[in-house]
Amino acid sequence: MRLLTVTALAAAFSVNAVVLRNEDARDFKGGNHTAFKWGACDPTLVQDSNVSCSFFEIPLDYHNATAGTGRLAVAKVNATSERLGTVFFNPGGPGASGLAAMNEASTLLLALTGGNYDVVSWDTRGVGTFTIPGDIFCFDNVTDYNTFWNGTIELNGIEYTGNFTDPADTKALLTQATVMGRKYTELGKRCQQHPTGKYMKYIGTAATVRDMIALADALDGPGSPVNYAGISYGTLLGAWFVNMFPKRVGRVLLDGVLNPQLVATQESHKIWPQQLSDTDKAYDAFVAGCALSGPSGCAIAAANASAADVDATITTLLKQAHDTARKNASAPVTSADIRSALLSAMYFPATWADLANTTFPEIAAAVQGESLARRALGGVAQRIVRRHEADEAATYGGIAIACSDSIDPRGTSMKDVFKNTIAATQSANGSHLFTPVWPISWNYCSFWPERAMERYTGPFNKTLANKVLIANNCLDAATPLKGAQALAKIMGDNAALVVQEGIGVSRAVMGTWLDY
Ligand SMILES: *[C@@H]1O[C@H](CO)[C@@H](O)[C@H](O)[C@H]1NC(C)=O
Ligand SMILES: *[C@@H]1O[C@H](CO)[C@@H](O)[C@H](O)[C@H]1NC(C)=O
Ligand SMILES: *[C@@H]1O[C@H](CO)[C@@H](O)[C@H](O)[C@H]1NC(C)=O
Ligand SMILES: *[C@@H]1O[C@H](CO)[C@@H](O)[C@H](O)[C@H]1NC(C)=O
Ligand SMILES: *[C@@H]1O[C@H](CO)[C@@H](O)[C@H](O)[C@H]1NC(C)=O
Ligand SMILES: *[C@@H]1O[C@H](CO)[C@@H](O)[C@H](O)[C@H]1NC(C)=O
Ligand SMILES: *[C@@H]1O[C@H](CO)[C@@H](O)[C@H](O)[C@H]1NC(C)=O
Ligand SMILES: *[C@@H]1O[C@H](CO)[C@@H](O)[C@H](O)[C@H]1NC(C)=O
Ligand SMILES: *[C@@H]1O[C@H](CO)[C@@H](O)[C@H](O)[C@H]1NC(C)=O
Ligand SMILES: *[C@@H]1O[C@H](CO)[C@@H](O)[C@H](O)[C@H]1NC(C)=O
Ligand SMILES: *[C@@H]1O[C@H](CO)[C@@H](O)[C@H](O)[C@H]1NC(C)=O
Ligand SMILES: *[C@@H]1O[C@H](CO)[C@@H](O)[C@H](O)[C@H]1NC(C)=O
Repeated sequence: MRLLTVTALAAAFSVNAVVLRNEDARDFKGGNHTAFKWGACDPTLVQDSNVSCSFFEIPLDYHNATAGTGRLAVAKVNATSERLGTVFFNPGGPGASGLAAMNEASTLLLALTGGNYDVVSWDTRGVGTFTIPGDIFCFDNVTDYNTFWNGTIELNGIEYTGNFTDPADTKALLTQATVMGRKYTELGKRCQQHPTGKYMKYIGTAATVRDMIALADALDGPGSPVNYAGISYGTLLGAWFVNMFPKRVGRVLLDGVLNPQLVATQESHKIWPQQLSDTDKAYDAFVAGCALSGPSGCAIAAANASAADVDATITTLLKQAHDTARKNASAPVTSADIRSALLSAMYFPATWADLANTTFPEIAAAVQGESLARRALGGVAQRIVRRHEADEAATYGGIAIACSDSIDPRGTSMKDVFKNTIAATQSANGSHLFTPVWPISWNYCSFWPERAMERYTGPFNKTLANKVLIANNCLDAATPLKGAQALAKIMGDNAALVVQEGIGVSRAVMGTWLDY
């Protein structure tokens, strides 16, 4: 995520017209050929030559033609055998790039859909700089960003021990409430004032659903069944789609569920902690697996170590980092950094060996005062260093999507948000280790100045043209099984739930191939 201008990148996106061959006509069942000009994708984003790209024109506001038009950057991998239609794919986030996902996984997506479907993904509204409206920017440069957030938990994270058992930790957090409330309010104003700000109200999941319907009308013909696979946030897009357009439902897979009923009814700072209800269990599985492997497979396990011993090693390091950061605000690695790195790892068990073998020992060395030799560091540790070097400023498209969709603010103050964070950390159902990891997109929403022109808040139990498949891992670090169970219950006969005995963010059907 870097600060780049919209126009510079848009100009770089190659859309050389491709002359449609006659035989391409059979690829369309009454679709509108002229709506697309498939060609090579911009190589900065997509290097896979099996993927073709095109822009697709959209109205900014489906209910107001005078608002003007935008465009989607769309990527497609063609069916390899007899074509039965299109499967649309969303990789989650919100804010993850569909183009990047296609580049990473076109072969897998084709294989998973049997080769009979074109697989199409796109950078939704609020994502990337090729789609208009694309990503939202709120700062002109990194200096501006760093100055704005200097000295706050936005850059430094939250320090605590136990379950906020130390009153000094609670006090330190609550003391930040006033300044953070003011900062998030001011952030919203900055985002509005930035040139991308005028698009904020056109960004949101309901408009994205209508974009997908328009894409399907053009690719497969007006009124065609819409096939869709979505993971994580993509399941919210899916749940909105099937209930906004129940007659258009083709074959649909929702994998790693964010319960749409929560989004419809609760302020988002209350939603995020509930997403972490199984994350400590994923951590327990990590330490148990490490102990079972022993030192030959997992470097942080001593010989004959138990799971409790491995946990103690990590807990001790967290405590040490916490105490050092308390004494010296310039400590190179804080306990907040370590929690943040651990949380990222909990999403992907495939990274656990590397975490234990490489990242963790490097972090331990840094906490214990050795200098951070950047080049020697692994991925997660590098991210920690980058944060401290502050050479990247965040972009806000993902937050714009989450907050555009969220319910209206209800007079919530930052103190309320923090108290909820602390309570969720202490709750037996919450994550003692990870709830306070900061910053979290969902926690901005009570202070976000805009909501989408259109939002969908239910019902989620419409009678659908086809039954939907819901899938989830049983120990999912960000979209817990209870969300999938809740959605399956709401949808009743319109859905079937399949549960995989797996750990990490659900890709129960899709596999764990996305590294965000
Ligand atoms: C096909 O798409 C083009 C470009 O978006 C549009 O101008 C045209 O009106 C569409 N034609 C039909 C028949 O929908
Ligand atoms: C492109 O598709 C062909 C045929 O399906 C496959 O053999 C090849 O590996 C694919 N290339 C990439 C870069 O995925
Ligand atoms: C995929 O199909 C489109 C026509 O729908 C064609 O223009 C494009 O060249 C094809 N892409 C590849 C990589 O074969
Ligand atoms: C439609 O969009 C135009 C241009 O942004 C705006 O001036 C007008 O107020 C909008 N109309 C409605 C009904 O929202
Ligand atoms: C960064 O942006 C701020 C605010 O727009 C501006 O005042 C400042 O000159 C910029 N600094 C650099 C280094 O571009
Ligand atoms: C942040 O604040 C500290 C002390 O208040 C100051 O020394 C430092 O220059 C500031 N950094 C930025 C990027 O504004
Ligand atoms: C945090 O609270 C939970 C539930 O009350 C408890 O099981 C756990 O041991 C506590 N952890 C610490 C470090 O105090
Ligand atoms: C982790 O290190 C152990 C030896 O300490 C080694 O056997 C194992 O293969 C390593 N795993 C990875 C993924 O590097
Ligand atoms: C580990 O356990 C084995 C068998 O119980 C024992 O022989 C060995 O000495 C133990 N190693 C350590 C380092 O405690
Ligand atoms: C605080 O940490 C920084 C960075 O590691 C170090 O340069 C500095 O000497 C430390 N200050 C004290 C008082 O220990
Ligand atoms: C914890 O989860 C259980 C099972 O989902 C639920 O019955 C209980 O009310 C929850 N407790 C709290 C404090 O949220
Ligand atoms: C959907 O759920 C609501 C509330 O539980 C219920 O009143 C309604 O009958 C349900 N509709 C369908 C089609 O099942």
